[in-house]
Amino acid sequence: MVEASPIEHLGPTRLDALVALEPTRSHDILACELAQEDARVFGIGGNERLIGYATVARLPFEAELQAILVAEPYRRQGVARCLLEAVIVQARDWERERLLLEVRAGNVAALALYRRLGFVQDGRRSRYYPPMGAGSSREDALLMSLPLG
Ligand SMILES: CC(C)(COP(=O)(O)OP(=O)(O)OC[C@H]1O[C@@H](n2cnc3c(N)ncnc32)[C@H](O)[C@@H]1OP(=O)(O)O)[C@@H](O)C(=O)NCCC(=O)NCCS
Repeated sequence: MVEASPIEHLGPTRLDALVALEPTRSHDILACELAQEDARVFGIGGNERLIGYATVARLPFEAELQAILVAEPYRRQGVARCLLEAVIVQARDWERERLLLEVRAGNVAALALYRRLGFVQDGRRSRYYPPMGAGSSREDALLMSLPLG
């Protein structure tokens, strides 16, 4: 019953659980994110473990989704959708005009999620992301937004 788990607003005491969940970002960056005044980190999971999280930052007029990740065994069960809905509610509470994000052009799952929730593409940064691994090349970033008005 993953979808029934409550969404938490994570603070610095949840750093270990967040580090265990997120393999791609450093301990220091995650610690900074949890302590930041102008950001909210939402998590979903049990007491000790987390199975997904999303971070949103408050910018002067807009909000920006900085990260969203769900542990592989729990994907396609609506977890990211719940997290993103919490992010959207937060951005509306901040009275921001739009929720912005950047995504790799080849990230099929994330693109499908964002389109499903109403994000539209505003632009593209050519060859913005470094290669994912040996033999692959740099990848474009798609810039997307969701109006919150
Ligand atoms: C992208 C990611 C967060 C999606 O998490 P998730 O919990 O599996 O997504 P959900 O189950 O909430 O999916 C909601 C909708 O998004 C779309 N979607 C999600 N994953 C998809 C996939 N692999 N293929 C196609 N559509 C997908 C579907 O429309 C889905 O609704 P449906 O299952 O009813 O069809 C997850 O794949 C992930 O953690 N990826 C690695 C990290 C990442 O790429 N983050 C984004 C960085 S910009």
